[in-house]
Amino acid sequence: MKRSKIVDLLKSLEWGAQVCVKGWVRTRRGNKQVAFIALNDGSTVHSIQVVIDLPQFDEEYLKGISTGACIRVNGILAESPGQGQSAEIRAEDIEIYGKADPAAYPLQKKGHSLEFLREIAYLRPRTNTFGAIFRLRHHLAYAIHDYFNKQGFYYFHTPIITASDAEGAGSMFRVTVLDPGNTPKTPEGKADYSQDFFGRHTNLTVSGQLEGELGAMALGGIYTFGPTFRAENSNTPRHLAEFWMIEPEAAFFDINDNMDMAEDFLKYVIAYAAEHGKDDIEFLNNMYDKELIERLNFVLNNQFIRLTYTEGIEILEKSGRKFEFPVYWGVDLQSEHERYLVEEHFRCPVIMTDYPKDIKSFYMKQNDDGKTVRGMDVLFPKIGEIIGGSEREADYDKLMNRVKELNMSLDSLWWYLDTRKFGTAPHAGFGLGFERLMLFITGMSNIRDVIPFPRTPKNAEF
Ligand code: 4AD
Ligand code: MG
Repeated sequence: MKRSKIVDLLKSLEWGAQVCVKGWVRTRRGNKQVAFIALNDGSTVHSIQVVIDLPQFDEEYLKGISTGACIRVNGILAESPGQGQSAEIRAEDIEIYGKADPAAYPLQKKGHSLEFLREIAYLRPRTNTFGAIFRLRHHLAYAIHDYFNKQGFYYFHTPIITASDAEGAGSMFRVTVLDPGNTPKTPEGKADYSQDFFGRHTNLTVSGQLEGELGAMALGGIYTFGPTFRAENSNTPRHLAEFWMIEPEAAFFDINDNMDMAEDFLKYVIAYAAEHGKDDIEFLNNMYDKELIERLNFVLNNQFIRLTYTEGIEILEKSGRKFEFPVYWGVDLQSEHERYLVEEHFRCPVIMTDYPKDIKSFYMKQNDDGKTVRGMDVLFPKIGEIIGGSEREADYDKLMNRVKELNMSLDSLWWYLDTRKFGTAPHAGFGLGFERLMLFITGMSNIRDVIPFPRTPKNAEF
């Protein structure tokens, strides 16, 4: 008999239908006469109740049905007389696919702490919480492709192994096949990467932007959606060493087009996830964050505030607030500053623009004042920076000057500069941190809880 998914059965309510379900046992309770099993197959946060009239079965065999076990049940779908569920299955035939020894299976009870669940990340997708989170992750990813496809932007695959440092931040994971204890040396005594696999020094990408710009200068509008890697040792609830980034890049966009798209895009994907992941969001709202749904609706229904960095600094200076990191023109804003503006001053998402050039990347378009660049960060409640982007410097000489000022290596950047030599055009783009958006959608407060297998300092077991 064909297997039904629980999500469909709970909707069909076809009482009396013969059905087959397969899933993992969440709980088992009952007495000598009857057993009640909460069965979940991952298709929804809701489990279905299976009722087993024990004397009709081989009791010894059914002892194998305990929390965590995987079973198949054939039976009759019936309206449930019990509270808290609409449908149940009266079991007629049961097969145990895999037992889970109660003495060894770590997920025995409900209500384990998120910290404990991080230690057993290989099993946590089996909890209601992480089932909800990872289903939402899927809906969001799908919505992102849907959005750009509708906008006529092409999905462009940029490399994971690169020879350049897109952000100029220098915190990269090296990619090499050389023996660390015995690298070949140049005459000057340095490691000789010309003998390495790619014949040059390579690393895992921190961003697909530079290659994405090449795509935009040919296809008009592109976006990337892939893993990016940063070896910064920042052990915060908002940083991962491996995270997923979405980076649209558009020829003929200026910073205003860029801001319009960022806002429209965020609202589209949030609305999509709120609609398609309604049950999961309701579950997380009830369990973890009672203001989650309200916050999502607020962002959907309000225009983001747009202001310059200089205006933002003035507001912070006048706030009378004692910040851990002092505020002055030129400082790189910390999340406490960003969150003050968003959560207390404006009570609304903010797009901040025109940052001092010294705290932003080399590729941002330089303003005429000689001090600021046309960068834009989108700041969100509870998160701080969720998007970073800019209009790009399209002028070859200005870009080259900046590269020289910052002592960047032309050996790994010459091809990027060439885009400004051959048919340059105004263009702009931005990068959305997928897990930061996940924090916003789920209401979770630690970024380790919104990616299946988090990579953070000292943490890569599974
Ligand atoms: O602001 P960032 O560094 O910008 C770029 O990488 C540009 N190349 C983007 C572009 O213009 N195409 O990173 C973009 C976003 C941040 O706003 C943040 O949401 C996220 O990526 N992000 C991180 N997320 C998790 N862990 C980290 N360590 C992150 N670093 C950045
Ligand atoms: Mg940034």
